[in-house]
Amino acid sequence: MRISIVGTGYVGLVTGTCLAEIGHNVICVDIDEEKIRMLKNNQIPIYEPGLEILVPKNSKEGRLHFTTEIKEGVENSDVIFIAVGTPPKETGEADLSYIEAVSREIAYNMRSYKVVVEKSTVPVKTGEWVKRTIKYNNKHNVDFDVVSNPEFLREGSAVMDFMNPDRIVVGVRSERAANIMKEVYQPIIDRIYYYDVKEKVVKKGEPSENKIPFLITDINSAELIKHASNSFLALKISYINAVANICELANANVEEVALGMGLDKRIGKEFLKAGVGFGGSCFPKDVIAFYEISRELGYDFKILKEVLNINKKQREIFVRKIQKALWIVKDKLIGILGLSFKPNTDDMREAPSIDIIKMLLKEGAKIKAYDPEAMKKARKILPDITYCSNPYEVAENADTLAIITDWAEFKELDLKKIKSLMNYPIIVDGRNIYDPEVMAKLGFEYISVGRKSIKPF
Ligand code: UDX
Ligand code: UDX
Repeated sequence: MRISIVGTGYVGLVTGTCLAEIGHNVICVDIDEEKIRMLKNNQIPIYEPGLEILVPKNSKEGRLHFTTEIKEGVENSDVIFIAVGTPPKETGEADLSYIEAVSREIAYNMRSYKVVVEKSTVPVKTGEWVKRTIKYNNKHNVDFDVVSNPEFLREGSAVMDFMNPDRIVVGVRSERAANIMKEVYQPIIDRIYYYDVKEKVVKKGEPSENKIPFLITDINSAELIKHASNSFLALKISYINAVANICELANANVEEVALGMGLDKRIGKEFLKAGVGFGGSCFPKDVIAFYEISRELGYDFKILKEVLNINKKQREIFVRKIQKALWIVKDKLIGILGLSFKPNTDDMREAPSIDIIKMLLKEGAKIKAYDPEAMKKARKILPDITYCSNPYEVAENADTLAIITDWAEFKELDLKKIKSLMNYPIIVDGRNIYDPEVMAKLGFEYISVGRKSIKPF
């Protein structure tokens, strides 16, 4: 199948590359000339494990192309995915101006039947607007269908999520378009292509009996599935964070509570990890967008506001823990481990570290920090802190260490060495990566989330 993807960001690049890997001929389009230049030279503009192998491989094998011209993409494809950004406006509503502009340009350039697929996360009813926009700008009066096909890709494991999805949702009532979309995803539905979790590579095998669910809905329902799913996951995180706060008050252990809850299959263990709250380009934006969509439709979805309130408070509570541990924050040296909004990504969008560090700087603290991938991006957002080349450099002379992102390498640190380097042996852990008993034995003052604090005296 000939496919083009308009918008080569996190979502567009992963989608385009993976569609090429499963055998399609893909053209990735982006207005950003620098990005396209890099991709043509096999340089990946973002950190997303797997792309460094799949982009050069598929480019070399002739299935993956990059261009800045939408016209080139539209003319040479039967299916066109729209994956441009939908950033939040001041009010929280999604800014759909890129989607509109791209829809218009697609329409101008259509000369035969096309399936236009909305991949970006958009408010319910956007598909209807896209359809109308294409209809009014359809210069050559050709047939087309608009489909909503939401993405459920997590940054850091996006290739795996694309190849081994829990479900594929396609919102369209036209049988012709539904069949084409099925053809696009058939190698994944049949699990011919899958991600081998152990070896961390995409593999090709025989079709499996155990198919991936392919759900066809109407377009509005597909759009709602995305916002309703992400908001529910965000709610789960805020819920467990609220429970963590109760655990601290009740002298209980949130890890045990989460385990006990999660073993109930109706609840499930995933997304019950208490911490400093969620960040990233999706959850904060999607929850507020869903609230606004509901309000506009005439429903006051109050619980979503509370999800965001708890999330914001969780960062403040973390800062208060540091303040309490240090007594006086002014002029203290605080070492930060982890800046990205979660591990295995360099993404700093809505990262809890930004608010936390800004609050500490406001209190007069001095900050040094380390992150395995996100420091380049962090420097632009947080210019007034010192960046270190490893965790031990961060620990040197620090009055406290604050863990904000649960990178695997932080779990393997030589904690004896860390302690010997620090000024005060205090660790405030926003992701519960250490065992409190081990920390007690090592002589740390250790404060985590939803668990009893460890004090060496
Ligand atoms: C974005 C949305 O934020 C998300 O809600 C949606 O599900 C998918 O698109 P992401 O891929 O992370 O997610 O965005 P980003 O990395 O900003 O990429 C968007 C790309 O679109 C950029 O490379 C940008 O240059 C490009 N773009 C934007 C165009 O090619 N044309 C435009 O008119 C506007
Ligand atoms: C999310 C969705 O998972 C994905 O399906 C969607 O399409 C895009 O948005 P992403 O934002 O990449 O993906 O990351 P995710 O792994 O979901 O984590 C989001 C945030 O929640 C991170 O800040 C993470 O640290 C936090 N989180 C996650 C928790 O605090 N606790 C948890 O149990 C899980």
